[in-house]
Amino acid sequence: MKVFHLSVECFPVAKVGGLADVVGALPKYQTKMGIDAKVVMPWYNKPFVNENEFEVVFDGFIHQIHHMYQVLVMKEKHNVLGYELYLVKIPGLLDRDQVYGYFDESQQFIAFQHAVLHWLSAMEIRPDVLHCHDYHTGLVPFMVEYCQDFDFLKGVKTVGTIHNGEYQGTMDWQMSNYMPRFDAWKWGLLDWNGRINPLATMIKCSHEFTAVSQGYMHELFEDAQGLQDLIRQEHRKAHGIINGIDTEVWNPMTDIMLNDHYSRENVEEGKEKNKKWLCEEYGLNPELPLFAFIGRFAGEKGADMLPDIVRRSISETEGALNILILGSGNPQIENTLKQLQEEFHVNFAMDLGYKEALSHKIYAGADFLLMPSRVEPCGLNQMYAMRYGTIPIVRYTGGLKDTVTDISSGGYGLNYTFPGTDDAVHAIKRALYLYDDKEEMQNLRKTIMNLDFSWQKSAENYVNLYRKN
Ligand code: ADP
Ligand code: GLC
Repeated sequence: MKVFHLSVECFPVAKVGGLADVVGALPKYQTKMGIDAKVVMPWYNKPFVNENEFEVVFDGFIHQIHHMYQVLVMKEKHNVLGYELYLVKIPGLLDRDQVYGYFDESQQFIAFQHAVLHWLSAMEIRPDVLHCHDYHTGLVPFMVEYCQDFDFLKGVKTVGTIHNGEYQGTMDWQMSNYMPRFDAWKWGLLDWNGRINPLATMIKCSHEFTAVSQGYMHELFEDAQGLQDLIRQEHRKAHGIINGIDTEVWNPMTDIMLNDHYSRENVEEGKEKNKKWLCEEYGLNPELPLFAFIGRFAGEKGADMLPDIVRRSISETEGALNILILGSGNPQIENTLKQLQEEFHVNFAMDLGYKEALSHKIYAGADFLLMPSRVEPCGLNQMYAMRYGTIPIVRYTGGLKDTVTDISSGGYGLNYTFPGTDDAVHAIKRALYLYDDKEEMQNLRKTIMNLDFSWQKSAENYVNLYRKN
């Protein structure tokens, strides 16, 4: 079975968040199952493209309005990722440094989807499944069926995965001029409330669609930023499949980004060394419990609550804990945290920016990982944390609900229900009690390191979906 994963992110080629981790790992596990899984993504000016060898497998053209763009499809020569990787380069449009944030983003994503389908049709490559990740590739299920130029691909099974329903890629109807020619009477499939909505199109036109956890899929039936009615209507095609983690990349025994390796057997000693390094680096006292946050400074992640959480948990416990934050995003949150760092430098440190290696060191060195998310479709941080023996403190939502059970109900993490500072601070105080119980902490660390969050089961669930009639 030949499966093409279409995505704008894939670790380690280009990563902004969890989408990259999933698209980087899932095909690897599917390959191990005997599936011919490949990844197709845009070309970016990133170190990976210079550090690896590529060959051009397609050189053609697409038209957008009156402009003709060259399309180059480059295959990575040695399958270094464990599967075939194809990069689509469109000089002048898909040849930039960053994944997101350009003024002509809608045009870029349309061009990427157009170019992929043009390449496959022109070369008569007919996949069994086109697996589309997030709205950036959400028009593909429509294009395959209703664009005359891709007749060769008509009927190919399409599966769409919603990693984040907050982002739908809506655009003005004028942008339809940038699309490859399509059956005009099918326009309604592109429309949602008077705009082109690629995520809605994916839900309408794909054969099956998934969300990255059962918990999140249930939430989408109630609230999907305006798409809930559509999701309910299409419920027969809807599935919740939890993400796994790449246990080869995320392994405290072998992780190349750690200074000190450890396993379940020597977790106490291993974590202590990693914590010591972190605390020295950030001027924190290693005797105190270390709480960490890693992530985008966005409302969904509850990042706007972080300043209050920091201030209150340090003041109300009279400095009985340390907090370390790694992230970036909303400038206002960044500035408030910077000011707090001056005020609370004894107990609070932060590092601004996207730092892959540092994130690994924090998962290893922290005692607790905070996730005060308002919305969390799956969340990978909590699973990475547990794999590294770090206890997650999470808001009970989406994928966090599916992966972290509270210690009070026989589980191994700390959950709280309401997405406010009060509950978050309360959970932190509960964690402090736990921290004082050395034996319980040791047992929990061992338990969470033993949990199975690997891709095995979920990769199989996807394959079952590909095979579904
Ligand atoms: P999302 O994709 O919504 O941001 P996930 O939990 O699915 O959330 O995935 C986040 C991924 O990005 C994890 O691999 C996490 O370690 C990583 N990450 C987030 N922020 C940073 C950062 N500032 N530096 C390094 N890694 C980060
Ligand atoms: C999105 C979600 C996150 C999920 C990731 C991978 O970025 O916000 O919760 O883990 O996709 O599916």
